[in-house]
Amino acid sequence: MHLTLHAAGPEDTRAVGEALASFLQPGDAAALTGELGAGKTTLVQGIARGLGVKTPVLSPTFTLVREYRDGRLPVYHVDVYRLERVQEVIDLGLEDAEEDGGVLLVEWGDVVQGLLPQSYLLIELTSDPETEVRRLVLTQVGPGWAARWERLEGALEEWMAA
Ligand SMILES: Nc1ncnc2c1ncn2[C@@H]1O[C@H](COP(=O)(O)OP(=O)(O)O)[C@@H](O)[C@H]1O
Ligand SMILES: [Mg+2]
Repeated sequence: MHLTLHAAGPEDTRAVGEALASFLQPGDAAALTGELGAGKTTLVQGIARGLGVKTPVLSPTFTLVREYRDGRLPVYHVDVYRLERVQEVIDLGLEDAEEDGGVLLVEWGDVVQGLLPQSYLLIELTSDPETEVRRLVLTQVGPGWAARWERLEGALEEWMAA
């Protein structure tokens, strides 16, 4: 099942993340894909805001993983921006994030399937070269999102592609 959304600007991307955040449960994971500048980190900023995280969310590019514990759920934000980092990321033992009841958000997460739990949300971001409008395609992988999907769809209606 897919859900296609459009975000007209960075604040719109964050608003989508914020709306999505209210559906997150302990142990959830999302894989964010899209080239550099697509808006992955921006979306994470919105998700964190929706979870009540007050700490500014910065790109984890140089730190591999950033943890935010001041929201409704712990947030683990990972950026696997180079394939050489895959092993490093695996070594982090992020299964702990799941056990910890946290939410795992992985930029370029699709390259490390083994890192993600059986069920996760796949979010693919692309930018329209002319308008810069971001398209976000949400796909549920595994059964974990099925029970929430209809409500999620309702909450994201505002950004739904016509
Ligand atoms: N919907 C949008 N429309 C236009 N620009 C956006 C949108 N969403 C995010 N951006 C901008 O795109 C740039 C790159 O975003 P970022 O989240 O760092 O991308 P990534 O993490 O995918 O590399 C930022 O300047 C951000 O403000
Ligand atoms: Mg980023």
